Amino acid sequence: MRSKIVETGSYLPEKILTNKDLEKFVDTSDEWITQRTGIKVRHIVAKDEATSDLAYKAALDALTRADVDPKEIDSIIVATVAPDMPLPATALFVQEKLGATNAFGFDINAACSGFMYGLSIADSYIRSNIAKKVLVIGAEVLTSMIEWQERSTSVIFGDGAACVLLDATENENEGMLGIKLHSDGRYTDLMIVPAPGSRRPCSEEVAKSKDRYVKMKGNETFKMAVRHIIDVSKEVLDDVGMTFEDIDIMVSHQANRRIMESVGRRAGLSEDKVVITIDKHANTAAASIPLALDWANRNGKIKKGDVVLLNSFGASLTWSAGVIKW
Ligand code: COA
Repeated sequence: MRSKIVETGSYLPEKILTNKDLEKFVDTSDEWITQRTGIKVRHIVAKDEATSDLAYKAALDALTRADVDPKEIDSIIVATVAPDMPLPATALFVQEKLGATNAFGFDINAACSGFMYGLSIADSYIRSNIAKKVLVIGAEVLTSMIEWQERSTSVIFGDGAACVLLDATENENEGMLGIKLHSDGRYTDLMIVPAPGSRRPCSEEVAKSKDRYVKMKGNETFKMAVRHIIDVSKEVLDDVGMTFEDIDIMVSHQANRRIMESVGRRAGLSEDKVVITIDKHANTAAASIPLALDWANRNGKIKKGDVVLLNSFGASLTWSAGVIKW
């Protein structure tokens, strides 16, 4: 028995902020953002939209496309760095909105690798018969932790959510073949939101401080990203007895177009095998891989039987890779 992605779904907030829009209030340019990151636009939540609202719509999209009743769902896993609130888990708001009364749900935080970590948990549940139908959702309202005047971060992130519906399969020729996860706690300062939290609970001082915003040492992170993504991808391919030559399509965390192109070149993958959606979605942390996967699925870029390589890199540091026979 193994797990299989049977459907994907997504939701992007209606409001779009272009690079040109940003030029009006941030010291940046469309040219810099496009050349250095590949981003052209990002979606931004409305004032009354929270992470669970986006997650619910993405989950509903996947369930509707799969024609599956929410009551058939055994587990809901939400990967996010921007939960609706500290308690309860965002997954429980999603459960309530869906009416998925037979499910158990919880959130995980592994930053931009969160979706991959969630996928590994869902796969383990399915293999060990703890759950059969599982929703893994990546959902983020990163704009809630952005300081707009800080151009090193504000131009990079966007809001959005996407979901995969997993089910059990007995067919050995499809599904999740392998997944590898890593983290390294020596680099927690590379990308951090220092407060509020148990170390520095919410206070007037924290509310006024810039420490409630994302801080990222982008250049240092960039240098580690390509090497780690290549290494973990080789590791998982090795595990399942494959090489980069077996890959039909690669769906990476969308942090920077240059990172994905460099990984693609080093892996010897032609351009058409590298899914790039950062131009449309920007960096949406845990939502970025499922958003790119959903885009590729809907647009016929992935065909039944294709070998799909997923890989991620995020704060601080987490990285992972997985291989799926679609
Ligand atoms: N607009 C215009 N100029 C900008 C800018 C912006 N938004 N942001 C930075 N700059 C400037 C800097 O001030 C610097 O100017 P200087 O040379 O005069 O000092 C110059 O551009 C280069 O800055 P740098 O930070 O070295 O740029 P970069 O090429 O490394 O690109 C990132 C920055 C963030 C796009 C890139 O480092 C990156 O994608 N890093 C990886 C992020 C990642 O993987 N994170 C983990 C997962 S989310």
